[in-house]
Amino acid sequence: MIQVEGLTKKYARHVAVNNISFSVDKGDIVGFLGPNGAGKTTTMRILTCFMPPTEGKATVAGFDVFEQPFEVKKHIGYLPENPPLYPEMNVRDYLTFVARLKNIPASQVKSRTEEVMERCAVADVKTKLISKLSKGYRQRVGLAQAIIHNPDVLILDEPTSGLDPKQRTETRSLIQNLAGEHTIILSTHILPEVEAVCRKVIIINKGRLVATDSVESLKTRTGVGNAVQIQVETNGQASATAVQQRLEQVAGVKKVLDRGIAGDGFVFEVESQPGRNTRGDLARAVVHAGWNLLELKSPYTLEEVYLALTDSAEESAAVPAGGVQ
Ligand SMILES: Nc1ncnc2c1ncn2[C@@H]1O[C@H](COP(=O)(O)OP(=O)(O)OP(=O)(O)O)[C@@H](O)[C@H]1O
Ligand SMILES: [Mg+2]
Repeated sequence: MIQVEGLTKKYARHVAVNNISFSVDKGDIVGFLGPNGAGKTTTMRILTCFMPPTEGKATVAGFDVFEQPFEVKKHIGYLPENPPLYPEMNVRDYLTFVARLKNIPASQVKSRTEEVMERCAVADVKTKLISKLSKGYRQRVGLAQAIIHNPDVLILDEPTSGLDPKQRTETRSLIQNLAGEHTIILSTHILPEVEAVCRKVIIINKGRLVATDSVESLKTRTGVGNAVQIQVETNGQASATAVQQRLEQVAGVKKVLDRGIAGDGFVFEVESQPGRNTRGDLARAVVHAGWNLLELKSPYTLEEVYLALTDSAEESAAVPAGGVQ
């Protein structure tokens, strides 16, 4: 649905986006991550035809963002960092105005406006002036204007920034509800939000692509740490030493660290030799020994992986191996 090839954007001599390529499939919901100034907003503005790239190519729904901007805009809904809302208009009038601007047929403008106000939970403030709305409501009006023409693709630039936890949860579930019908790219600095909402992430740093991968495989890939955390029930039959020794015997295992007891289980961190995926064998070893396997997961949070990737990229600008485009 979205194809980006060798995209570069220079502001005078400063390279804000440096030769990045990625693709997003139909129906995907992708987190777009990177430190401040990494180039996220710049990339999003190019994809939404707000400015041309210096080099490279991007297509949305098969249309070139530079050569066919009108077609692209029909297929895309954009929530900018600061939504361009008219403070002196009320919510309903503003959305009616946007609906007309986006060429929604006159006979459907009213129903469509009502529909998005319901969907984005702003119907209760429809006669309020936008200038009088709280940040959370404004953000939802911004989302309503982005989806009013029912676009295939949504580009959301920090949709939950500045919201309180309750508003953030509401906006997040609104985005999750949109996910089925739309292809979504959203930028955010809130990594647990990405884990909750996104299947895939794209990470950029200083204008360069650092990784594009699924959240799960990012957490287990080599380069960041080929490790898993395993929890075995302390039900009397297993002893920490016996479990550790058994895990150490699994082919491909390099090191087993005893991480103590958590809840009902002994916890171990198992590091495997580079390139070896030992998860299946570890699980079988535990079960065959007659112990209860409570959990087998990556010991890393997305936050840790993200920090490792953006730090290493800072030093070497190298792209780590495995699942990276
Ligand atoms: N209009 C502009 N003119 C000159 N430089 C710009 C302009 N807009 C952005 N930049 C620079 O381009 C780089 C990328 O900025 P961008 O806004 O895309 O980052 P970002 O990843 O969205 O950051 P943030 O997380 O802070 O929103 C930054 O170094 C920024 O200073
Ligand atoms: Mg930005």
